Amino acid sequence: MLLIKNGRVLDPATKLDTMANVLIVKDKIVKIGSPREVGAKALELQRENGEEIREILADGLVVAPGFVDVHVHFRDPGLTYKEDIHTGSQAAAAGGYTTVICMANTKPPVDSVDVLRDLRMRAMDLPIHVLNAANVTVAMQGQKLTDMDALYEAGACGFTDDGVPISDERLMREALKKAKKLDVPISVHEEDPLLMNSPGVNYGDVSKQLGLGGAPAVAETVLVARDCLLNQDIDAKLDIQHISAGMTVDILRFMKKKGVNVYGEVTPQHLYATEQLVMKQGSLARVNPPLRTEADRQALIDGVVDGTLDMIATDHAPHAKDEKSKPIEDAPSGMIGLETAFALCNTVLVKSGRMAISDLCEKMSLNPARLYGLDAGRLYEGGPADLVLLDPEEEWTVTEADFHSKSKNSPFVGEQVTGRVKYTICDGKIVWA
Ligand code: DOR
Repeated sequence: MLLIKNGRVLDPATKLDTMANVLIVKDKIVKIGSPREVGAKALELQRENGEEIREILADGLVVAPGFVDVHVHFRDPGLTYKEDIHTGSQAAAAGGYTTVICMANTKPPVDSVDVLRDLRMRAMDLPIHVLNAANVTVAMQGQKLTDMDALYEAGACGFTDDGVPISDERLMREALKKAKKLDVPISVHEEDPLLMNSPGVNYGDVSKQLGLGGAPAVAETVLVARDCLLNQDIDAKLDIQHISAGMTVDILRFMKKKGVNVYGEVTPQHLYATEQLVMKQGSLARVNPPLRTEADRQALIDGVVDGTLDMIATDHAPHAKDEKSKPIEDAPSGMIGLETAFALCNTVLVKSGRMAISDLCEKMSLNPARLYGLDAGRLYEGGPADLVLLDPEEEWTVTEADFHSKSKNSPFVGEQVTGRVKYTICDGKIVWA
């Protein structure tokens, strides 16, 4: 039995925000309430089963549902020199995540039942819940749909070709129809290759200074608008990944008002930083879609605050040191993000006074869980004991030692941030402290 004492307990689903104790037995929350109520329950259970009571003192801490990340790259199979499902899970636990969804741009990609089955088998022994999205198109080539029915049967929780966009709109329409029939999200990477000069750095001042072609915001916005329009009558759960441009927020706001079934993901890095980070950190800040301007960043924050953007997802994208040490034009795009996600978001959204911590928890747990129909993102009696304990006031400086990922490619080492994950509990077990 695990007794969490004297924390500020938040449940974004019911808007519960109260000082309380939480009692966990095995993998379930048994009681949330006053010290007296919870203490009585613990003693009653102890009399029944003789189990010892382990206590966590949560004074000054927020007790919230474990975070749910709908967008991570664990590089397994095939690219495990960057990350594997074990190190990725460890990084996730350290970041307060109890459920993650792995993207399918592995080697081979997750476009076949064989690859997916192997991943589903191996996910059973991990300290957190690791789910898999499968590919929309064969070999992520954008030419032919995968056998989405078979992949769904084999355990795919959703579909994505993340890393590359789906250019062919007829194929996209078929994919939306299929996702609708299966009632699972389809998550899309929106960067039109025909409009890209070079990926990873925003087209603008910084790309010009560095002599790079740059990735213009319009490459994102045209595909976002197109896919929302395609989905108007199909009504699939369309998830726009890692939104970077202010105009995309405007498009989503409009489309949602029109009743289009669309969801928006934004990353901590796009909320926290701008293209200027590329000048400071070089290839470590290269990411697709790129960090953009301050006006874009402010529009993303507005979108999170007003609910246009539904979820914060890390796009945790590990790359090896020698890959990221190359000149920026040759280095792969992407950055790790699980361990710093809460601190960056808490600093930029909560500490700044833009939103309440319970609303941040909603974006990091409840909303992603709801999109995927998961029993997660909530704290309730009888519900899963997947929790995170947070110190929203702790100030700290990010160091390489804070990362548990196999890769260390964060542009935020040295950054001073506020808010720290103190404990992560998954299935009633402490998986990070
Ligand atoms: O920068 C990125 N890197 N963006 C993506 O969408 C994919 C990711 C990766 O897999 O490295």
